Parts: sequence; structure tokens; C-alpha cells
Amino acid sequence: MSLDTISKIDNSQPYNIEEWKRGYHSQPNEYSYQIEEIEGEIPVELSGTLFRNGPGLLDIGDSPIHHPFDGDGMISALIFKNGKAYYRNRFVQTEAYIKEREAGKILYRGVFGTKKPGGWLNNIFDLKLKNIANTSVIYWGGKLLALWEAAEPYRLDPQTLETIGIEYLDGTLETGDAFAAHPWIDPSCELDDGAPCMVNFRVEPGLSSKITLFEFAPDGKLLRSHSHSVPGFSFIHDFIITPHYAIFFQNPVNFNPLPFLLGMRGAGECVEFQPNKPTKIILIPRNPDNKQVKTFSVESGFVFHHANAFEKDNSICVDSITYQTLPQVQPNSNYKEVDFDSLDPGQLWRFTLNLDDGTVDRQMLESRCCEFPTHNPNQVGREYRYLYIGAAANNDGRNAPLQAILKLDLETGERQLHSFAPSGYTSEPIFVPKPNADTEDAGWVLTLVYDGSKHRSTLAILDGENLAGDAIALLHLKHHVPYGLHGSWCDRVFI
Ligand SMILES: [Fe+2]
Repeated sequence: MSLDTISKIDNSQPYNIEEWKRGYHSQPNEYSYQIEEIEGEIPVELSGTLFRNGPGLLDIGDSPIHHPFDGDGMISALIFKNGKAYYRNRFVQTEAYIKEREAGKILYRGVFGTKKPGGWLNNIFDLKLKNIANTSVIYWGGKLLALWEAAEPYRLDPQTLETIGIEYLDGTLETGDAFAAHPWIDPSCELDDGAPCMVNFRVEPGLSSKITLFEFAPDGKLLRSHSHSVPGFSFIHDFIITPHYAIFFQNPVNFNPLPFLLGMRGAGECVEFQPNKPTKIILIPRNPDNKQVKTFSVESGFVFHHANAFEKDNSICVDSITYQTLPQVQPNSNYKEVDFDSLDPGQLWRFTLNLDDGTVDRQMLESRCCEFPTHNPNQVGREYRYLYIGAAANNDGRNAPLQAILKLDLETGERQLHSFAPSGYTSEPIFVPKPNADTEDAGWVLTLVYDGSKHRSTLAILDGENLAGDAIALLHLKHHVPYGLHGSWCDRVFI
């Protein structure tokens, strides 16, 4: 992958499946170095730290884990200062990570099917959760937090990435409390005289499910928290905010805990998509004095991630990546042997909720297979024009690995694609606005790209205004970073 080969798209299958699989090799090593192999130039004004999280270990001892979502969290930091860049990575030293490392074998069941050796008899009624802290990472209130939705965050030193320990957020959380891995930063909160705040949630699923909303001030102090009960089991990974609402999609799923209790399946493998039931959309007012929770129904579909939402007249628009169906993770399947063509693609839809009559219109905005949406952070919860998203190299509506970043102009419908096919595999893009930018797309789009032909990763800096043009810079790491999940940008330079 070089500046000469980017943006060239092959219309046949644009990837090599054996190369793609190598992106799931473990990265057991921890590094700290200045990045020296650079094509192009790092903008001097790009100053701060990109934090990424994702599974770093895909096997423990001699045993592969059953699903990447069960892999131990590894934090990467890419630090930018004065046109130079540095890379550092460390595993989150969770209690389970330390114990399994000492033992050299799997000691815990994973939510997505990883079992202890010895068959179901050795796993039956073991309901201990392994907090793997592998889903996202954010710096807020002076603390760097590694997030995993089913347990408390872990706090790390932002400079060294050393693990400090489980974080209870000044008593907001108690032992074992869940805390979602998808916080949003409201850039200007009405309830706080325009100050920014971090909004996140916890869901406690059951026959009815309890959703708790949290809002934190820039100094980390809890501003507001309130809980609401909604009927039915909930599998809610992400949510989205507007100035007045927190919005949750309650996917139509069933949960049968028996195979989990019997040690035959992970809890995540017991979630079953219900194609004949509607998706429920739940609006919770962010102001705790307003208890008027509203629920909408829309045709069945499965949503992991939302791009953005905004209020317009008396309606709310929610842009989300939607799958027609969600296949169940099977106990005997191998995630590396995925048949992409047998899976529905993620596609971008706009849901327009009419607050007057309670109806929902939905409209597909992008049929190309896509995931991991992002946009200018100043537009969170506001009407926005530009969306950036990981995308398949081909525009044939089929499921495929993400090999490109797509920019969508929601006003004109214009699309720009920056492809890394055939050997490059992209991750969640992060948009960093330029200092004193006067347009929404004036900024840099950062994405880690795995190069399957070289088994190395590259941090690409793309031009937010001219995404399809040459990359501004390609920073080649000395090694690979396994396919990751989420991350965030912080304006502070943690060298
Ligand atoms: Fe996510």
C-alpha cells in the first residue's frame, strides 16, 4: 500500500481472504517508539492523541478464542506533536488477563462462546464474567477509561497506558455494574449553560430491561443520572443523543439462557434475532424532570451503531447502520471461515420519528456495505452534512470486509471513496477538526489500516474535504495491530 496504489478499485472481489484472516493474529507485544516510516507529511497543526481499543489476543496458550469480541483489550495510542508521531500499546491489565497469562491457558468463559478446556462439564453453571475492557477508550474528566459494556471501566495512565484499576467514577458505579462502551460528548449542553458533557448509559436486561442514563461534567463529576424500565429483553450496544433526548433502538431479539447455564454456549450465542417482530425505538428525555418516555415501532432490523441524530421541526432524524437480519453466533463455527456473501450487509438508514403522530419513516441513505460511522464531533446531536464511514471497496450491496473510507454529503448526495483495496483493511475512522476550521469537513480523517500483504498496520491521515484525493500521510507501524473496535481523539499530547 502506497500513495501510488490508493484509490484504485477493482470491481471483482477486491480482497484476498487469506490476507484478511491474518488481521486476526494476536499481537502479544507491547511497543513504544517514534514512527519513522512515513509517506507524505504529518500536518504540524495535528496535535493530540488518538486512542484505539480492540482485542489484542485472539488465542490464549494453545487455544484460540471463539470470537474476537472475547479477546483481551489492547490500547493503542498514536501521539501527534510538531509534525512527528509516536506509537505505544499496552494490554489492559484486567484481573482475568493477569490470571490467564500466569496460567498460560483459558480460565474464563467468554460472552461470545469462548469456553474453558474440558467441554461443557467444565463450564456448566460457571456464570463469572470476564471483564475484558476491549471495546472503546476515552479520556474524560482527567481519566483514561477502557470500556466494555457489561462491566465497570478500567482506568489507565494516559501517558504510559499502565492500568491503574477498575474505575467507579467517583461512586457512580458499584462493583459489577455495567457501563456502556459508547459514550457521546454533547459539545454544548443546554442544561449546563452550553458546557460540554459526556453522556453514557447502562442497560440491565431481563423480562423487562432497565436503562440508566448518565451525564458527566468536563471535570468528571456526575451531573445527572436517571433510570427507566422498558418492557422486554434488550440487547443495546449503542445509543445516540440530541440536545433533548437519548435514543435507544431495542432490537427484536429473544434470549434463551439455558444453553449458557449448561455451559454449552456463551451468553451472546443465546441471543436470537426475531425477524417478525418490530424494532422499538425508545426516546428518553435527557432532562430528569421530564419523565415522558416515548416509544416508536419500526420494521424489524438490527442496529449496532448509530451515526448521528438531530431534532428538526417536530421530528427527530436518526441515522443508523442497519442489518436486515443478525445471524446467531454458532458454537461450532470459526469466525475466520466467514462466508461474507451469506451475511446481510450493514447499510445506512435514516429513521424519521414524527413526534406528533408517533409514526416512523425510514429511508436507505447508503446501500454499500458499511460500518463504524463518524462525523465532526461539533455536530453530535445536531443537523450535520458530512458523514465518514468504513466501507466495502465495491458498491454492489454485498457484505464484504471494510477496505475503504466513504464520505457522504447528506445535502447533495455526493460520495467520495478512499479505497485501500486489495490489501488494506480499514477500521473505524475518527474525524479531527482543523483548528479554526470554518467548514464542517475541514479536518483530518484518521484510520488504522491493516495491510494483509505485509502483515503490518498503517495509520492513514486523510483529507476530510478531499477524501478521495491522495492521503495526506501514511504512517507505517513496525508491526500489525489486530482488527480493532472503537477509539477517540483527545487534544492533549500524551508523550
Ligand atoms: Fe460498538
